[in-house]
Amino acid sequence: MSILKTEQLIKVYGSKKNQQEVLRNINISVDEGEFVSIMGPSGSGKTTLLNVLSSIDYATSGQIEINGHKLQNMNNKQMSEFRKKELGFIFQEYNLLNTLTVQENIMLPLTIQKVSRREAQKRFEEISNALGIMDIQNKYPNEISGGQKQRTSAARAFIAQPSIIFADEPTGALDSKSASDLLNKLDHMNQSTKATIVMVTHDSVAASYSNRVIFIKDGKVYSELYKGDDDRESFYKEIIKTQSVLGGVVNEL
Ligand SMILES: Nc1ncnc2c1ncn2[C@@H]1O[C@H](COP(=O)(O)OP(=O)(O)OP(=O)(O)O)[C@@H](O)[C@H]1O
Ligand SMILES: [Mg+2]
Repeated sequence: MSILKTEQLIKVYGSKKNQQEVLRNINISVDEGEFVSIMGPSGSGKTTLLNVLSSIDYATSGQIEINGHKLQNMNNKQMSEFRKKELGFIFQEYNLLNTLTVQENIMLPLTIQKVSRREAQKRFEEISNALGIMDIQNKYPNEISGGQKQRTSAARAFIAQPSIIFADEPTGALDSKSASDLLNKLDHMNQSTKATIVMVTHDSVAASYSNRVIFIKDGKVYSELYKGDDDRESFYKEIIKTQSVLGGVVNEL
């Protein structure tokens, strides 16, 4: 079943005189429980696409439907309710609150929802165990490593049990060991909770953890790759192959 669907999605930046069409007719569909990566050269529109899909930014035209809700039909209040209930976010720069402990950061999305204290505690323990951050729950963000910060931010994204988690370069600031650690955990959470994940990345290794890669070029869907029964290593090779055909500045590390 499709949980996210776009139709003829267009995003234009700039004034009338100086327009730039960044998303040019994007039609994609993501199934419930899928782990999808979005790749493409620098400037191809990946972040723009993620921001528009996740209602951080608005589309110029076209349709977006998430879990049966048509985004363009919602007013601001409905949109903010929708965001809290249905969406989770993981950003490259973590976005944790420095004055709150790891546990408080993770529990934050639940304080604005009607979830009992007992249920909240239960979810916190399950997720923190799965992400391996139970032992740092009382620390503050400035007392933990980048990898731990990103796992904390992933726990915060999962705790409200959103229908989709959007991640923009979640491994962008991590070393390769912390990155693979996070991706293994995301993959595990994706399989155990059936949470849908849409991740933008320029890293083919990161993308090889997902089940499908959508390649964007010049604001259009250029091609798609499915992992199928492939192991991660052979999926990685397929991704590299497509990337080299795609060209452009893909890897900026
Ligand atoms: N707020 C904005 N106003 C005007 N133009 C923008 C804005 N944000 C992005 N752009 C332009 O839109 C294009 C796509 O940008 P976007 O950030 O989506 O690319 P990206 O694929 O995420 O690139 P990268 O891999 O470097 O992060 C670029 O040409 C960029 O300059
Ligand atoms: Mg980007």
